[in-house]
Amino acid sequence: MAKLDDRSARRDRFHRKAKREGFAARAVYKLEEIDSRHQIFERGMTRVLDLGCAPGSWLQYAQQRIGDGARLVGLDRAAPARPPAGARIVAGDVMAVDVAALLGELPAFDVVLSDMAPDTSGIRHLDQARSEALFERALEIAIAVLAPGGNFVGKLFQGPDFKRLTEAVRARFVAQKTAKPSSSRQISIEQYVIGRGFRPDAGGAR
Ligand SMILES: C[S@@+](CC[C@H](N)C(=O)[O-])C[C@H]1O[C@@H](n2cnc3c(N)ncnc32)[C@H](O)[C@@H]1O
Repeated sequence: MAKLDDRSARRDRFHRKAKREGFAARAVYKLEEIDSRHQIFERGMTRVLDLGCAPGSWLQYAQQRIGDGARLVGLDRAAPARPPAGARIVAGDVMAVDVAALLGELPAFDVVLSDMAPDTSGIRHLDQARSEALFERALEIAIAVLAPGGNFVGKLFQGPDFKRLTEAVRARFVAQKTAKPSSSRQISIEQYVIGRGFRPDAGGAR
């Protein structure tokens, strides 16, 4: 019971902090931690695609981190109610979206993020399989739209395909890491898989 209380106190702390600091969700602190440890937004990287962007805290973070030159595109099944000014929002399902609709007028993105999570059923293997499918699609899109040297962060529930999927990232990026941010619930099986330095010529066709 004490452990449960600790966890919910921690959750509430991040939730309150997000409210106080004007972020749409506590998820912002996961990206902040990943970015401070793995340098996702490198100097000169301005074009960001955020898959599963609602309610919008990762877009807010990217906007603050990059500043005036930011070119942000967010996709979600349910568009955020108040996206940051200047962000272009595409409403739709990642499984059906056309890559050209995400790019719009941009030739490529410097950073592709995915915090997509399935609606959880409580059936562990089913939730893992759905998360793996969302992650795989996010990686497929990243491979199609990233500029050389670009960075990728994708949420993935740890499951039977975890190794295969981290290896798929390793094959296309100079460096691959995993992260479990401290604001992510310890009991949650979510991890973030990071690819730094996209290599368009490695691993076959885009
Ligand atoms: C954890 S939330 C993202 C929070 C966001 N990073 C933020 O900071 O505000 C996950 C999002 O993924 C979206 N999502 C899940 N499956 C999706 C799909 N198939 N296509 C598009 N978006 C999806 C959900 O609608 C939800 O808004």
